Amino acid sequence: MADLTTKYMGLDLKNPVIAGSSGLTATVDKVKECEAAGAGAVVLKSIFEEQITAAVESIREASGSSYWHPEAEQYIREYGRHHAAEAYVDLIKGVKDAVDIPVIASVHCVSAGAWTEFAHKVELAGADGLELNVYVLPSDPKRDGRENEQVYFDVIEAVKSASSLPLALKIGPSFSSLSRTAVQLSATTLDALVLFNRFYRFDFDIDGLKLVPASYTSSPEEIARPLRWVSILSGQVECDIAATTGVHDGAGVVKQLLAGATAVQVCSTLYLNGVGHLTDILSELTDWMDRHGYSSLDEFRGKMSQDESEDPAAYERVQFMKGTGGVS
Ligand SMILES: Cc1cc2nc3c(=O)[nH]c(=O)nc-3n(C[C@H](O)[C@H](O)[C@H](O)COP(=O)(O)O)c2cc1C
Repeated sequence: MADLTTKYMGLDLKNPVIAGSSGLTATVDKVKECEAAGAGAVVLKSIFEEQITAAVESIREASGSSYWHPEAEQYIREYGRHHAAEAYVDLIKGVKDAVDIPVIASVHCVSAGAWTEFAHKVELAGADGLELNVYVLPSDPKRDGRENEQVYFDVIEAVKSASSLPLALKIGPSFSSLSRTAVQLSATTLDALVLFNRFYRFDFDIDGLKLVPASYTSSPEEIARPLRWVSILSGQVECDIAATTGVHDGAGVVKQLLAGATAVQVCSTLYLNGVGHLTDILSELTDWMDRHGYSSLDEFRGKMSQDESEDPAAYERVQFMKGTGGVS
């Protein structure tokens, strides 16, 4: 029987498949369901920086900031404005009492503001780690790239000084120099990079002339972008990588491990196929390892990374050439 154990962010996981942050990890019962289906760990539904701040100041007063998450207001209405931080601490405690797998808390943030002290409360509540979901939408023409990117470094420093929890940073792919920024982030005290978040997106209703949510689930084809970058970055960064977006089955998990990921997060496929699909994903992973004669993850992790490739240029090919992929 293949050994699926791995270490991620310094935590011992019985397997590398993590239930990613979403509504499916927002309550004690849902997390118990993830554990029963075999999840190696869970990342709890994120609390927003704005919710933490709302405990001490009026949410409306602060809404002049242009860096707020667009879906934050709705989320805040649903979860209650003033007690969100306390409720989140209770969620961590409840989940920790109920399950044995590692529990990683999650905060959506856009600044290294006063909210960062909350990391200490997360630690006291018993979380095993903290994932920061940071995204500064580069929509303000007055802020240059360096300013936007500095936020990520400031957040890591502030959170690490408030708590000693293992820390992961979940980022998007849009940096002016992704490799350089990722390598520099990994050289901080960061324990893991999570590549890449799939952000809320909107569509146009062309009859009602209003914004409507676009599909909230990914498709399996969306694995392509994180697969390229996990392959390229796994040989360069100094921290773990968890892959996220577009992993819908065991084959997706195998691909990301071959690319060099330490762990893989799944979300949309659990919305589409039910949380029990985690069990299928794990048995597909085990079957593949058995078929290929691997008894542990380390025997094949990173085997298809750019670092290990005899044709590294293939990982950086971005334009179609005549005949590429059978297209003429
Ligand atoms: C309904 C829904 C809610 C989500 N909520 C969060 C969240 O609170 N925090 C977060 O970091 N990611 C959140 N995500 C993003 C997922 O964790 C994941 O990174 C993304 O969906 C891409 O992975 P997938 O292709 O497996 O779905 C959410 C995704 C969905 C579909």
